[in-house]
Amino acid sequence: MTEQSFVGQKIVITGGAGGVGLALGRDLLERGAEKVVLTGRDKDKLVRAAESLGPRAETAAFDVTNEDQVAEFFSDHTDIDHLVTAAAGTERGLVTELEVAKARALFESKYWGQYLCCKYGAPKLTPRGSIVLFSGWISRKPLAGVSTLAAVDAAIEALGRTLALEIAPRRVNTVVPGMIDTPLWAARLSAEEQRVHFAKVGASLPVGRAGLAEDVAHACRFLMENGFTTGATLDVDGGQR
Ligand SMILES: NC(=O)c1ccc[n+]([C@@H]2O[C@H](COP(=O)([O-])OP(=O)(O)OC[C@H]3O[C@@H](n4cnc5c(N)ncnc54)[C@H](OP(=O)(O)O)[C@@H]3O)[C@@H](O)[C@H]2O)c1
Repeated sequence: MTEQSFVGQKIVITGGAGGVGLALGRDLLERGAEKVVLTGRDKDKLVRAAESLGPRAETAAFDVTNEDQVAEFFSDHTDIDHLVTAAAGTERGLVTELEVAKARALFESKYWGQYLCCKYGAPKLTPRGSIVLFSGWISRKPLAGVSTLAAVDAAIEALGRTLALEIAPRRVNTVVPGMIDTPLWAARLSAEEQRVHFAKVGASLPVGRAGLAEDVAHACRFLMENGFTTGATLDVDGGQR
């Protein structure tokens, strides 16, 4: 049995100030992690998040699209047990309508942001360490209006499978969330619109409810603690088809 305990472990979570990253940080600290480093761009949001988790939560503010900032962050950190790359922006639009600059920005954020964290973070992992990358359900389930995001997500899954060979015995896995009720949706929908949207989504799913940040955090924890799982993509989508 190769299940890892989180007791005494150090974990870095990008995009840790909210949503899935914050839920995961809370879960890991409850399970005995020694240190969880939450990262994001907004210092105040990070401080509030860390305060909600207690003294073993630390913060670092940097932008995952900025190579110098990513390199500087990881130069200060060694012996990382797990790296979780949840930070990403979001953008929608038909290929024929979305400005190319916005489509490129999405790649910069969700693809290159995770790539840079892998490039500079992987050498700082312990030999039994792991990386959890983030894709999304539309990588394999087409939906008009999100082609760029679908392409980014598919690219991340391919990156994860290959990187798992390149940095072995360290492990690399990709979690594939469905529609999850997190602050990500606040950029597009009002609070009332989100409530209606997720009620509808929940009713349409085989599991009969919408996804929560904690559902995805639980899947990340499985990928981190199962020492025989690498190069995998794990769907956490309530059966969305
Ligand atoms: N929620 C869903 O329905 C859903 C579905 C499929 C896939 N996913 C994926 O799951 C992951 C986590 O999503 P979530 O729902 O937890 O999102 P979220 O609540 O929006 O959290 C993402 C975090 O990333 C940070 N971030 C964004 N751009 C950044 C940048 N350039 N540099 C550093 N930090 C940055 C944000 O904080 P700052 O703004 O303060 O930097 C934010 O706290 C993402 O990869 C998302 O694409 C989510």
